[in-house]
Amino acid sequence: MAHRVLTGIKPTGMPHIGNLLGMYRPALAMQDESECYFFVASYHALTTVRDPVLLREQTLDVAANWLALGLDPSQSVIWAQHDVPEVTELAWILACITSKGMMDKAHAFKDAVNKGREVNIGLYTYPILMAADILAFDSHVVPVGKDQKQHVEMARDMAQRFNHLFGETLVVPAPKIRDEVATVPGLDGQKMSKSYDNTIEIFLPPKKLRKKIMGIVTDSKGVDEPKDPETCNVFGLFKLFASPAEQAELAARYRAGGLGYGHAKQALFEVVDAQLQDARAKYEHLKANPEQIEAVLSEGAAKARITARSTLDRVRSASGLGR
Ligand code: TRP
Repeated sequence: MAHRVLTGIKPTGMPHIGNLLGMYRPALAMQDESECYFFVASYHALTTVRDPVLLREQTLDVAANWLALGLDPSQSVIWAQHDVPEVTELAWILACITSKGMMDKAHAFKDAVNKGREVNIGLYTYPILMAADILAFDSHVVPVGKDQKQHVEMARDMAQRFNHLFGETLVVPAPKIRDEVATVPGLDGQKMSKSYDNTIEIFLPPKKLRKKIMGIVTDSKGVDEPKDPETCNVFGLFKLFASPAEQAELAARYRAGGLGYGHAKQALFEVVDAQLQDARAKYEHLKANPEQIEAVLSEGAAKARITARSTLDRVRSASGLGR
């Protein structure tokens, strides 16, 4: 069987450069050597989202992000979770072999309790649905952020428990934890993150992108003074986009003096803008033509269902639900 990579993406609003370098690019780079299954976690979003218009829009938006950034639907599969109902069927079966004690330990639910948020049963059993997502598609590798490691480990436990009870049926998946890209500095020099409000969004129109970049915090050295590129946030971002030759050239100009931070920011804007231009155009095109996103999602769902159905047939028959 081909090496299968699967991950679910919950809508998180406009993706930023930290997401681009930490999640999208590494995940998309796997398309050539693995069979990639990427889905929009709409059922998981429903544990908190209460606005149907927003949920629908966010579902399409996540898909548009992936497609714009290079997900190739002829190579990889992308769909919306709720279009593959086999997953909820598997979730029930897994629920029947999962102890309540395991759910009590899940971080997502404990955090919500600690923050005094409403805890619905969907949120409580979130890891079971997530395990069903992973196991229904015979996933080998699950790329996730650190915060999701526990959930993938629970999926492993459930697969092993099922196999122990009913014989070898489910593929036991392995998490692949994303490196924390602490090296992507935000506008203020801290790690770029929505929670620090220091992000540069990927799909900003050029004028807004430039304005954000002009707002990056620097020290107050004058134009003539020599500057250290290695301690500068502008250069820190420039390095992540520019070629080695471009980096060496700008670094030399920093050290020589005569380069103002405004010039450095302009250089940064130019490389970022050049690299994001195509993705931005594609994103805008998709947002203006949502039926094209829908078409990709329904084709993806049809493919994903074939895989999920065959897993479910094995699971049903192993557990005594088959004929
Ligand atoms: N829980 C994940 C998150 O919040 C999203 C998700 C749902 C997921 N199902 C998944 C990730 C299956 C990996 C595999 O980010």
